[in-house]
Amino acid sequence: MEKIVILTGAGISAESGLGTFRDEGGLWSQHRIEDVATPQGFARNPRLVHDFYNARRIQAAAARPNAAHQALARLQRDWPGEVVIVTQNVDALHEAGGARDVIHMHGELAGALCARCDHRWPAPPEMAPGHPCPACGAPAARPDVVWFGEIPYHMEAIFDHLARADLFAAIGTSGQVYPAAAFVQEAAAAGAHTIELNLEPSAVVSDFAETRFGPASRIVPDWVGELLGRAG
Ligand code: APR
Repeated sequence: MEKIVILTGAGISAESGLGTFRDEGGLWSQHRIEDVATPQGFARNPRLVHDFYNARRIQAAAARPNAAHQALARLQRDWPGEVVIVTQNVDALHEAGGARDVIHMHGELAGALCARCDHRWPAPPEMAPGHPCPACGAPAARPDVVWFGEIPYHMEAIFDHLARADLFAAIGTSGQVYPAAAFVQEAAAAGAHTIELNLEPSAVVSDFAETRFGPASRIVPDWVGELLGRAG
């Protein structure tokens, strides 16, 4: 039975109240990427970076999954083939909506990482500069989030899934950040049908065989309902 690979972005969590990055008033209109989402920014001002992620961690922990997150969990549960969810998001709303084995290619707000020994542990709600690593004791704790200039996580596994996809869907992403924006081309090259579900056309909309526009909380459950109806 068909293998489905899904890539999600900030747009799928927008209706849960979490800001996107590049929409009007989005996170990158409030903060400079180089200040809060690069290793250099963290080295320059760790307090500013921790405060940025502390606010997002607390907001994400209070957010609820919406109908789009729940529909993808239903697809994973009821589809006869494999359904792999790869997300660029660092919130845990896919998991809160019932999804399993979600691949967080940009890390997770709920995770802390030691910049010295690579130890990982559950992040406290708020982190501060000099926070000691529980393993090596170094005052080098950082959010376990992939910053610009760093290598996204799980890329080998992701490309392997894309090479075997029969259906690839991108949901709620502007297609402006690589390597995620090129996943559609990888899947299409492997013979997959490709569909973009987004509020508006993304930067890579022309790479998709099929497009549907509207809020994720409406168009994703509709799409999942059609797929499951087809599966019989
Ligand atoms: N339903 C569906 N799509 C929506 C909704 C909604 N309710 N609201 C917004 N969108 C769409 C927007 O039209 C936009 O195309 O979601 C997309 C959000 O794009 P971005 O803000 O660029 O977020 P994303 O694509 O996830 O960014 C990718 O960039 O800054 C880095 O690491 C960060 O993971 C992030 C990556």
